[in-house]
Amino acid sequence: MTTLQALGLSYHAGVLCILDQTLLPEKEEWVVVRNPEHMIQLIQRLAVRGAPLIGIAAALALANFAKSSVDVCQIQNAAKALRAARPTAVNLMWAIDRMLATPHLDGENLLQAALQMAHEDKMMCEAMAEHAFALIEDGDQILTVCNSGGLATVGVGTALGALISAHQRGKRIHVYACETRPLLQGARLTAWELAKAGVPFTLLCDSAAATAMQQKKISSCFVGADRIAANGDFANKIGTYALALAARFHKIPFYAVAPESTCDPECPSGASIPIEERADHEVLGVKGSFGEVQWAPPGASVFNPAFDVTPFSLVSGVILNTGIRYSST
Ligand code: MRU
Repeated sequence: MTTLQALGLSYHAGVLCILDQTLLPEKEEWVVVRNPEHMIQLIQRLAVRGAPLIGIAAALALANFAKSSVDVCQIQNAAKALRAARPTAVNLMWAIDRMLATPHLDGENLLQAALQMAHEDKMMCEAMAEHAFALIEDGDQILTVCNSGGLATVGVGTALGALISAHQRGKRIHVYACETRPLLQGARLTAWELAKAGVPFTLLCDSAAATAMQQKKISSCFVGADRIAANGDFANKIGTYALALAARFHKIPFYAVAPESTCDPECPSGASIPIEERADHEVLGVKGSFGEVQWAPPGASVFNPAFDVTPFSLVSGVILNTGIRYSST
């Protein structure tokens, strides 16, 4: 296998491209990835995003770099820089570490390692969707946040992938998609994927989620994860913790869905997960294919963590490709 076509990434004849997710849903623009530094910029400005996808994308960029005439030291330096492009999703470190563990750091070996990980990611998505299927009832109204679909992996996705797959297999579900401030991955990307797949859905402001639960609109919640600690605590898009708290109060089942590449056995609990803090301008206003506007007074102080940590005690279970880890609380 030397080619790959996913919703947000392609690799054909040695050319690596990513779909610029900052321009969705208005424009579907593919960008050729020139080198590792370019890939780091694309990851940091979220043109390519989602925990499993950034790992595979970085691995492919490294393989392509190794195919140009560079030495092992240059490959190792590029790997180190790619590994540090974003701090929270452990899939990035997992993928680069697997690349560095290949017997020979040459272009062909690294390409095969990257494509093998892409294949595994696809298979893991299928397995997660299969486990989640048993937890989804006909008629369910399911809340999700951020984007954990085909745009975040090279397969069908994690949490959103499981919902789209359940719909395709005939379960009549309705998805409630939180818009996901500040960068609107829910409103822009999840809504785009759901519309493309023909899944009935409703968009809501993040702050309307607890009210939707109170009004009995929500049967269950399915969210993705960027890093799962050994004790089951997990990091996911900012706002996930608040959803889990509200779901617990309203006795609504709450599941995280993630592949093994998201598990970090080195992290004992959520307290050790590094949380990315992003630039002030993301909160002071908004920028996208629709233009740019700043609504807050210039110089206003901002707190902008990109992720939060949900304790395992607040979830019903974590759905992995290997099976479901239930929480006893
Ligand atoms: O900042 P992002 O858009 O990369 O954040 C993505 C998420 O939080 C997803 O929920 C997570 O990566 C899991 S999806 C496979």
